[in-house]
Amino acid sequence: MKPQRLDKFVSTQGALTRSAATSQIRRGNVTVNGKICRDPSAKLDPETDVVTLGGNPLTFAEHLYLMLNKPAGILCVSRDPNAETVLDLVPQNLRRAGMFPAGRLDKDTTGLVILTDDGDFGHRLTSPKHLVEKVYYARVDAPVFDGVIKAFEKGTHLPDGTPCAPAKLRVVEDGAEPLCEVTVTEGKYHQIKRMFGTHDLGVNALHRHSIGALVLPDDLAEGEVRVLSEDEKNAVFSEKSPENADLL
Ligand code: URA
Repeated sequence: MKPQRLDKFVSTQGALTRSAATSQIRRGNVTVNGKICRDPSAKLDPETDVVTLGGNPLTFAEHLYLMLNKPAGILCVSRDPNAETVLDLVPQNLRRAGMFPAGRLDKDTTGLVILTDDGDFGHRLTSPKHLVEKVYYARVDAPVFDGVIKAFEKGTHLPDGTPCAPAKLRVVEDGAEPLCEVTVTEGKYHQIKRMFGTHDLGVNALHRHSIGALVLPDDLAEGEVRVLSEDEKNAVFSEKSPENADLL
């Protein structure tokens, strides 16, 4: 693997800002292969050299995977010169070069977003070939009749002719403005709003609840970001089932 500077390795693998990593190195809190190294620019092989920080080994992980509970009003892109983006919500110590949201939400949509610097993971998650189910809750502006549920099941054609794969629609709260659970395997532009729109239904609020078997945890407040555990990362590509219910 390409050699890496010690300060970069300690900051990315130790979840520290670059300046905090540098100060840990200068203070003698970092060892490389058993010896204290006070040179932040020292080069190492991330895969074979053994680095410790404060006595604890730093295990090398090439990529980082985060989950965010996206609030409304934030753009789901990597950067925008004029508006706040989901990347702005990531604490400095968890930022990585090339990090991006794997699957976009609209500015006004809330809920689960995965951020990573792993392009293959992002591609796998967003590719319709892999059929990863995403569950949304949509508050719509008029009653939903059975015909809409059947049309979603068959696969909607959007007004511009774009075909959508079959989707599950379940009314979970009836009334003048019902709450609907929608499960889709794709992520076309404004897909859910446009699918309801073909039936003259407007979406007043939209929230992404889960991706695969990974459900947005109750204790992740709006705007908060945290690192995905290995199990959570794997849950993204597994189906929801009673066996993995403890991950939900
Ligand atoms: N469908 C939409 O219409 N908007 C989103 O943000 C996600 C899915």
